Amino acid sequence: GWTMEDVLDEEIKVINDMVGPEEHVICALSGGVDSTVAATLVHKAIGDRLHCVFVDNGLLRYKERERVMETFERDLHLPVTCVDAAEQFLSELKGVVDPEKKRKIIGKEFISTFDAFAHDLEQKLGKKPSYLVQGTLYPDVIESCPPPGSGRTHSHTIKSHHNVGGLPKDMKLKLIEPLKLLFKDEVRALGKILNVPEGFLKRHPFPGPGLAVRVLGDVTEGNALDVLRQVDEIFIQSIKDAGIYDSIWQAFAVFLPIRSVGVQGDQRTHSHVVALRAVTSQDGMTADWYNFEHKFLDDVARKICNSVRGVNRVVQDITSKPPSTIEWE
Ligand code: XMP
Repeated sequence: GWTMEDVLDEEIKVINDMVGPEEHVICALSGGVDSTVAATLVHKAIGDRLHCVFVDNGLLRYKERERVMETFERDLHLPVTCVDAAEQFLSELKGVVDPEKKRKIIGKEFISTFDAFAHDLEQKLGKKPSYLVQGTLYPDVIESCPPPGSGRTHSHTIKSHHNVGGLPKDMKLKLIEPLKLLFKDEVRALGKILNVPEGFLKRHPFPGPGLAVRVLGDVTEGNALDVLRQVDEIFIQSIKDAGIYDSIWQAFAVFLPIRSVGVQGDQRTHSHVVALRAVTSQDGMTADWYNFEHKFLDDVARKICNSVRGVNRVVQDITSKPPSTIEWE
């Protein structure tokens, strides 16, 4: 039988045979498991002829940029450029409330940011990079292109996922997809032997459009993103402290574009409502809402209202998928 070590050796050999000694490779890191493992593998094969970019789109979670950059640089020694494109993304999203429009704008902005990075790199190297690394997994391959007669449908036409096939077509880059025959658990096993930190490999999935699909309505309205980041961080930290993070597929907070009346101290307040969502799932296609203990919910709601200015009400999402989707947009 094949071990993960065999898979790793074979992949490195394939990449070294494919990429010439003078050729350069680029990779967009999302902060997720797949792109990180793919990049780490390619880095092992070709060293610093790999050039990674991480885009801060202004829609990241609390301290996400610092946290992932630390893993990339300190733990994995990946050559990464961090591009701060927050202003650009947020100005394009101003006034936009339609979820699909948000996704389209984010996809388009991502491409233009990536293009600019590739162009700068070309100037620096004096030549075009030849390859692009993508963290495509086997299920992504099947899902975006179901084999005839497989009975599989295009599940993701329900929401347009910008990270599937969403890179510039005119860039003429050849693809390196070192994970395309692997399932998620195999990618985690591969990541482990590549020394990707355990905690990183176990992170919940996070959607490409980020917090834009977790702030309902206009994401640039008031301090919605900032409030959501604080609430989400308290929720996730409480889940980790309770030792249940690994039993949950995804957990996050949602910012609602409404206000409700509350009382704090002896003051009447008219403040924000946030929703907490946590689900279990095998693959994200269907999901069950996660049943927290009452004490956990009580503590977390109290903590949120006590420490996040402008929030006076916390509700929990108790729907499964279907009929709901995991994300609210
Ligand atoms: P839904 O909300 O469709 O989500 O039940 C299923 C899984 O997909 C993630 N998701 C996305 N991931 N771009 C992504 O990269 C997207 O636009 C997107 N929308 C949903 C979601 O977080 C869940 O894991």
